[in-house]
Amino acid sequence: MSTVISNQRVLSGMRPTGSLHLGHYHGVLKNWVELQHEFECFFFAADWHALTTHYEDPRVIEESVWDMVIDWLAAGVNPGSVTLFIQSRVPEHAELHLLLSMMTPLGWLERVPSYKDQQEQLKEKDLATYGFLGYPLLQSADILMYRAGRVPVGADQVAHVELTREIARRFNFLYGKEPGFEQLVEQAISKMGKKNAKLYRNLLKKFQEQGDDDALQTAHALVSGQQNIALADKDRLHGFLEGSGKVILPEPQSLLTPASKMPGLDGRKMSKSYHNTIKMREAPDDVDAKIRRMPTDPARARRTDVGDPDKCPVWQWHIVYTDESIHKWVQEGCRSAGIGCVDCKKPLIEAVQADLEPIRMRAAEYTSDPDLVKSIVAEGNEKARDAARQTLEEVRESMGLAYR
Ligand code: TRP
Ligand code: SF4
Repeated sequence: MSTVISNQRVLSGMRPTGSLHLGHYHGVLKNWVELQHEFECFFFAADWHALTTHYEDPRVIEESVWDMVIDWLAAGVNPGSVTLFIQSRVPEHAELHLLLSMMTPLGWLERVPSYKDQQEQLKEKDLATYGFLGYPLLQSADILMYRAGRVPVGADQVAHVELTREIARRFNFLYGKEPGFEQLVEQAISKMGKKNAKLYRNLLKKFQEQGDDDALQTAHALVSGQQNIALADKDRLHGFLEGSGKVILPEPQSLLTPASKMPGLDGRKMSKSYHNTIKMREAPDDVDAKIRRMPTDPARARRTDVGDPDKCPVWQWHIVYTDESIHKWVQEGCRSAGIGCVDCKKPLIEAVQADLEPIRMRAAEYTSDPDLVKSIVAEGNEKARDAARQTLEEVRESMGLAYR
């Protein structure tokens, strides 16, 4: 069953819990930068989500939030084309979370794998809280608020997007029914104009009679592209295609972020808790020193010992940072003891520094102008709020809360 509305909007959030490192850069941010060229993107600082695990000492959230936004901008996220905002500055998220909580079975939340996993992993924290149980539902509210079609996330977050789809389905099932639906659909179809109305009916027929999924997707895109009909009518037209009622909250899909090929300095996953990171804005001297201290293939205790790049984290970094001619030089030199590890690290250090230089420069521009960063986010907050208010109005109305 396909219940995807071809909505091109992308939404993703990141928790402000510390400064960003090369793992974030290669794993998440480069992906965001690519997406911004193709789609309308909303990216936000999930400060309430950070609070679910850092409620006892929220100071780090406040410290990280602006630095995180600066890191995004430094990575090349373009404030001219992307909407950047802070979750708590769009309090509509809290209202939608509350309304969704009314119809969310407890078991759905208890069964989300990250719930028990995180409680296990963060044993030093008391996560038997109401807020932490609601973590994935708050995330659902974030996503559904913007009717996002695509949600770039890491593998650990896919279950949250899946929950979001179930929540959307349940919401539409409960609140998408309205008296006189078929008639309202007919009216909405004619509002598209003769040509589009005909196209809509033909595509629907193709889907219904031949199970043609492309036709269904094209029909959804046709509806999404209509400029002159009201949102509620669009919801009806989408819903009618799916054989359901109004689609008030469309189901999103996760866009799985490819696993980062960027390991930490010691070859394990790059993570603050392993102390094996290089920060995006690490000082050049520290970058140098950290790479010089990287462990290498332990078989190369002496300069004359041959080594195996496959057993060396430095090689993993070469794969990310240097070109093929250097790769060849490393492979041959390491396996024949023709080069030493100090030699091997030299072009790597140069490449990492060269990659970080423009990031440092952009970051410096923004750190020297905090007002600019604040105004970018303030503008994003407003844009996000406008979109959020529209959705909430429809949500309230469909739940019978439109009385004032
Ligand atoms: N939970 C996400 C994480 O830890 C952050 C997040 C919050 C998010 N709301 C979101 C991601 C909405 C995507 C969409 O990475
Ligand atoms: Fe690693 Fe390079 Fe030394 Fe080989 S030469 S062990 S790849 S650092």
